[in-house]
Amino acid sequence: MKLLLLGKGGQVGWELQRSLAPLGEVVALDFDSQDLHADFSRPEKLADTVQAVRPDVIVNAAAHTAVDKAESEVELARTLNATAPGVLAEAAERIGALLVHYSTDYVFDGSGSKPWREDDPTGPLSVYGRTKLEGEQLVARHCARHLIFRTSWVYAARGGNFAKTMLRLAKEKDRLTVIDDQIGAPTGAELLADVTAHAIRGTLREPGKAGLYHLVAGGETSWFDYARFVLEEARAAGVALKVSAAEVEPVPTSAFPTPAARPRNSRLDTSRLQASFGLRLPHWQDGVARMLRETL
Ligand SMILES: NC(=O)c1ccc[n+]([C@@H]2O[C@H](COP(=O)([O-])OP(=O)(O)OC[C@H]3O[C@@H](n4cnc5c(N)ncnc54)[C@H](OP(=O)(O)O)[C@@H]3O)[C@@H](O)[C@H]2O)c1
Repeated sequence: MKLLLLGKGGQVGWELQRSLAPLGEVVALDFDSQDLHADFSRPEKLADTVQAVRPDVIVNAAAHTAVDKAESEVELARTLNATAPGVLAEAAERIGALLVHYSTDYVFDGSGSKPWREDDPTGPLSVYGRTKLEGEQLVARHCARHLIFRTSWVYAARGGNFAKTMLRLAKEKDRLTVIDDQIGAPTGAELLADVTAHAIRGTLREPGKAGLYHLVAGGETSWFDYARFVLEEARAAGVALKVSAAEVEPVPTSAFPTPAARPRNSRLDTSRLQASFGLRLPHWQDGVARMLRETL
């Protein structure tokens, strides 16, 4: 089997290089790859890459993920998050490939406190959310064999992440204030990549499993409680901090104004995914604790 992975250098793309390898030959590309075009800012040429590789499965981990910057880069965000996945979907359909794509909790307006289900009404609050929604709609419209995973609060051990920022601030600063009115589930790139490989296997065996799924770690938390968990784990590992978990101060979202509005309620209901693929998703604390063991 042949797989084409796009966005191989991102948080999820990096982990996918590992998790997809046992499935077959993986052609992994980034936007500056030389031989084959994989720059999403020129989407029309992506079809040539798909034709040249002729993969059985395309996994798209590339996106415009700078949520605040997207507010002032609307056209670029739309090209990367919507037009390019649409081109990939048409190209995948032409050769009968399965297309795997990622989307986000930001397609919802964040109202209420119930976990969002796949068929709940969308209502993005930001350019990022709107363009990601357009992307998933184009993928679903143009490629019958698709898997779309909406996820949230993605972190990876490699590169920067929220936990590392909290650790740095708790070492340097005398006070730490963290937003406590946005609720979601921190989800490891490793988990996303592992579940993706499992779901690809399942969908190739049973094509009826194709479709839209919510994929996040189990449980829920606020950024405030997430930060406190990180600092508690660090203290237990013997890391010296100027601000302890108990001293972190909760603040509302309004304390940190940003160009893009974020949903308050980012809870995603994963029952469809768990039932379709026979999975039990681990609690978010398990993945964060493992990432911290690598980091600390
Ligand atoms: N991060 C989150 O919290 C989060 C939450 C919900 C959903 N998601 C979704 O999950 C998926 C993976 O996200 P991630 O966290 O792995 O994001 P990421 O680390 O920002 O990775 C995105 C990748 O896209 C690449 N890229 C940027 N511009 C490109 C272009 N013009 N052509 C081709 N590739 C380009 C980036 O390359 P450079 O790094 O070199 O720019 C990077 O490798 C995305 O669909 C995202 O929308 C993420």
